[in-house]
Amino acid sequence: MEKKVVEDIVNLKPFRLVKFFSFTSLAVILITSIALSLIISNYTKDVVLERNEAYLFVLAEKVGHQVFQEFVLPLALQNRPIAVEDPRQFKQLDKVVRSATAGLNIHSVTIYSKKENQVAYSTISELVGRKDVGEKEYERALQGESVSIRNLDGTLLNLLPGSREISCQLHTFIPLRMEKPFSPTRDVMGVIEIVQDLSDDLEALIHLQSWIIFTSLAVMSGLFLALRFIVARADRIIEARAAERRRLEIKLNHAERLASLGKMVASVSHEIKNPLGIVRSTAEILKKRLAKIAPENSHLAEIIVAETTRLDGIVREFLDFARPQQPKLTDISLNVVVEKVKVFMGPEFARRKISVMSSLAPDLPMIPGDFDMLYRACMNILVNAMQAMEKGGSIYIRTRVVGKSGVVLEIADNGEGMAPEIISQIFNPFFTSKNRGTGLGLAIVKNIIESHNGVISVESERGEGTEFKIEFH
Ligand SMILES: Nc1ncnc2c1ncn2[C@@H]1O[C@H](COP(=O)(O)OP(=O)(O)OP(=O)(O)O)[C@@H](O)[C@H]1O
Ligand SMILES: [Mg+2]
Repeated sequence: MEKKVVEDIVNLKPFRLVKFFSFTSLAVILITSIALSLIISNYTKDVVLERNEAYLFVLAEKVGHQVFQEFVLPLALQNRPIAVEDPRQFKQLDKVVRSATAGLNIHSVTIYSKKENQVAYSTISELVGRKDVGEKEYERALQGESVSIRNLDGTLLNLLPGSREISCQLHTFIPLRMEKPFSPTRDVMGVIEIVQDLSDDLEALIHLQSWIIFTSLAVMSGLFLALRFIVARADRIIEARAAERRRLEIKLNHAERLASLGKMVASVSHEIKNPLGIVRSTAEILKKRLAKIAPENSHLAEIIVAETTRLDGIVREFLDFARPQQPKLTDISLNVVVEKVKVFMGPEFARRKISVMSSLAPDLPMIPGDFDMLYRACMNILVNAMQAMEKGGSIYIRTRVVGKSGVVLEIADNGEGMAPEIISQIFNPFFTSKNRGTGLGLAIVKNIIESHNGVISVESERGEGTEFKIEFH
């Protein structure tokens, strides 16, 4: 159950901010920037065209006025009829029109007669005399309305190679009126059409439009990349924090599990300890008595004593693990600890044909430590080494100084060694490969070393041997 919780914590999918940011925001940024640039450039285009329309109306009024003043009026004063088909009159009218539009960017000026929608005069000579060129705008102008139409062929697509040329023509139709005092009602005599060619302006506008779109796309993409970079960094930081939190949660989980396990083990061990003591002392008495009355059976009592002694050791180990002590720190020398353990275990080593060599640094600095606890840690490591060398072997103990005041203790054996999958578990409580082991030895060693702010590590190779390294800084 707890393992499952740990797995769930480890497998929790991190929230990827950058993923959301990439797709949605890129789409939004691109669409908005294109839409915005289209709106801006279309608005500019409209403004330019409207201004030109207004200008053309004013110009057409001016041309109409000039035509009346300089062409119609002189003829009327001479009492001559207007007949533009007469080359002399045509020339006169042409002169008036051209002087009124001289220097202005005008494509053509056409004057329609009042009757029959016929072209009476045009700066484009082919049009002169043709009928029905003016269409419905002519009709509306005859009714007194000023009309303007746009002949546009120009979008962004026209910029593509091979597409049609951009063209833009403004046609303005206004009524040509008689002026006061000849006609108080200002009767309509005909219609003037002025055509302005704005193709170049429209082309420039469309280029501007494409430029606006490309620049805004470039700016937006740059902005997007910068934001994405920031978000990606934020994501990495969030992910690192989440990983750290997961690690702490797992550690906490583990610590809580150990704490509850420890409480249980402590109470069970405590309850076993006293009856066990009584069983052992009773067996010792029994052994003495049996020696007198039935010496052939006295080994039975010996078995009880030996086994209760072993059980007592296990219970003590349990208690050590379940109730880790706070170290009582004094200045101690690891060399002294090693010497004492060596002396204590010397007879056992000799019995098992194990030779112990040591190289202890004479200038080893003292460290703040709990002598008894470190003694126990060394002993657990040495007992394991001994058990790893059933047929005898050698143990090598070394102390040395690292850096300014770092102290290192190494204990190596040439026993059976360990496979990598075993190495990763040896410090876990209750992990053992032995029939009669409890698997608490190294868990206790680790607790002791860590309570001294030390670090313990191991290197081992199957069939070669094992080396434990303990460092205090
Ligand atoms: N020097 C060593 N050489 C080979 N294997 C070792 C050595 N030290 C430890 N191990 C392996 O690590 C395991 C765990 O050791 P640990 O001391 O924690 O428990 P244990 O010795 O099995 O039982 P106990 O609680 O009685 O010490 C051992 O069972 C053994 O497989
Ligand atoms: Mg052990």
